[in-house]
Amino acid sequence: MCGITGYIGPRNGIELAIDQLHRLEYRGYDSAGIAFPQNGGLRVIKSEGKIARLESLLEGEKTAAFTAVAHTRWATHGKPSHDNAHPHTDCTGRVAVVHNGIIENYLELRHALQERGHAFSSETDTEVIAHLIEEQLEQDLVEAVKKVLPQLRGSYAIAVLSTVDREKIVVARKDSPLIIGLGEGENFVASDIPAVMRYTRRVIVLEDGEMAVVTRDRVQVMRADGTPVQRDPMEVTWDESSAEKGGYPHFMLKEIHEEPRTLRDTLRGRISQDGLVAFSDLSLYPDELRGFRRILITACGTALHAGMVGKLFFERLLRRPVDIWFASEFRYGDPIIDESTLAIIISQSGETADTLAALRACKEHGATTLGIVNVVGSSIAREAHHVLYTYAGPEICVASTKAYITQLAVLYLLGIYLAQLEGRLSNEEARAMVHEVQSLSDRVEQVLKGEEQIIHLAKQLAPSTCFFYLGRGYDYAVSLEAALKLKEISYIHAEAYPAGEMKHGPLALVEPGVTVVAFATQPSTFEKMVSNMKEVKAREGFVLAVAPEGHEDILRHVADELIVLPPVHPTFAPVVSIVPMQLLAYYIARERGCEIDQPRNLAKSVTVE
Ligand code: F6R
Repeated sequence: MCGITGYIGPRNGIELAIDQLHRLEYRGYDSAGIAFPQNGGLRVIKSEGKIARLESLLEGEKTAAFTAVAHTRWATHGKPSHDNAHPHTDCTGRVAVVHNGIIENYLELRHALQERGHAFSSETDTEVIAHLIEEQLEQDLVEAVKKVLPQLRGSYAIAVLSTVDREKIVVARKDSPLIIGLGEGENFVASDIPAVMRYTRRVIVLEDGEMAVVTRDRVQVMRADGTPVQRDPMEVTWDESSAEKGGYPHFMLKEIHEEPRTLRDTLRGRISQDGLVAFSDLSLYPDELRGFRRILITACGTALHAGMVGKLFFERLLRRPVDIWFASEFRYGDPIIDESTLAIIISQSGETADTLAALRACKEHGATTLGIVNVVGSSIAREAHHVLYTYAGPEICVASTKAYITQLAVLYLLGIYLAQLEGRLSNEEARAMVHEVQSLSDRVEQVLKGEEQIIHLAKQLAPSTCFFYLGRGYDYAVSLEAALKLKEISYIHAEAYPAGEMKHGPLALVEPGVTVVAFATQPSTFEKMVSNMKEVKAREGFVLAVAPEGHEDILRHVADELIVLPPVHPTFAPVVSIVPMQLLAYYIARERGCEIDQPRNLAKSVTVE
């Protein structure tokens, strides 16, 4: 998730594009850059680091420009660096492109362009767009962009500037947001509405498959093939601070609502045309992967909980022991690691000190390390031998939500991939599983439609002082994450237990006022979960059951309240069943007036041991 901006009009475009960029910094902040016309060519200035660093470089620029495009980056392809920062240019320096999204077929395009003599100066997927436009530039810029768009597979919002047509910014979008702010004799381009709100409240939201030609006093919207589109501007009525959160009151809620899209982003480019897992971004060769005798997973907090789902999935599929370690405990135990160990290190930030230390210990013991990381170029991403990125985009709320969902998605894909390689799944079986994983974004979307019920439940449950979350197998792993979400943002004591353990002690705590959330997504343990709910009811605890549709009749008899999930394959249920729990934690915390995005005593990135 990057931020792009642009300006065309009578004012200083450099200042305006940068000012807009600041309002998009929540979309990414590892490098930034700007392009504007100067002395008959294009001047591109960029730097690693936050926008402030770019601004300090611009201080020396005495010049003004009436047109500019700018970018703040959240790295996906290529580490954060000066060269990988946008804008990207073609070989002749006549085209500058800023891009948000992922071009799936960039390697193919890059090789073909290199064969035709193009020289690349970055590792990014974006740079291919500049070179492809260069090849078409004998016509005008709009025609050139039109010819290039059909060649791109994946997602993009782009803004293009060229010396061939200086009085225009050409923009296009597919699966990544792009808006145009309409001024008087000036226009603005941005990834998101907050960027332009200081200047205008009249906005055109570009739809998928559309492009637009933006000049000082005109905006022409068209389909990518050039067919004109009539689009009326909308009037933005939100205030600026809620606009940054996409109109949501907190980043946490925004990030939960981003989950369907982030799931799609995580899978993008990792599933072949024939419906099998194909990790073009995994630098581990099939033969190496087949050679590991042990698998070890280590992480902290939410990332560890994702790892617990991964452990269950891998063991069932691969019939091989998978060790899981709290990264914070790693150095005090004596994990069994050797050269035949694949150590999977999971981290959103890629900077968690305990996780980083565990990674280093794994390397010292000769393991091959594979990071599952969200932040590109972070310490864990750099130090692990191999990396799979989760592509969740920046997660700003301290409590992790969308990152967890994408960690699960990567673990599922990895498990299926390993099982395919080891011949433990036929192509048909693997395809069926991949299909289930692909359908998860729709299931999550369905869950989000049930938000009203959760709001109502939160009002009812906010006064509880003690929560238990119970489940078996995958449901227990989800219970751990659901309990963590509640305790960290609402400050209510919450414990997760394997449901069968309650009778070995914790049941003594159940009394009126205690809430028990019981997950029943696994057919093999459904009846046992019903018995556990009855045990709680008998002690006058409040039972909230969470189960896929089809069990309403039974559950309404044993539970006080029921959250009905859309139908989902039990193996993949964690991705779906955690979502109402994230919402429940959020709304309970809101009822209790808690500081949601920055809970007390916690930090987003825990860089101390
Ligand atoms: C909980 C949460 C933390 C993190 C943990 C690891 O919502 O966010 O438990 O999951 O601190 O952080 P990363 O994944 O950045 O290594």
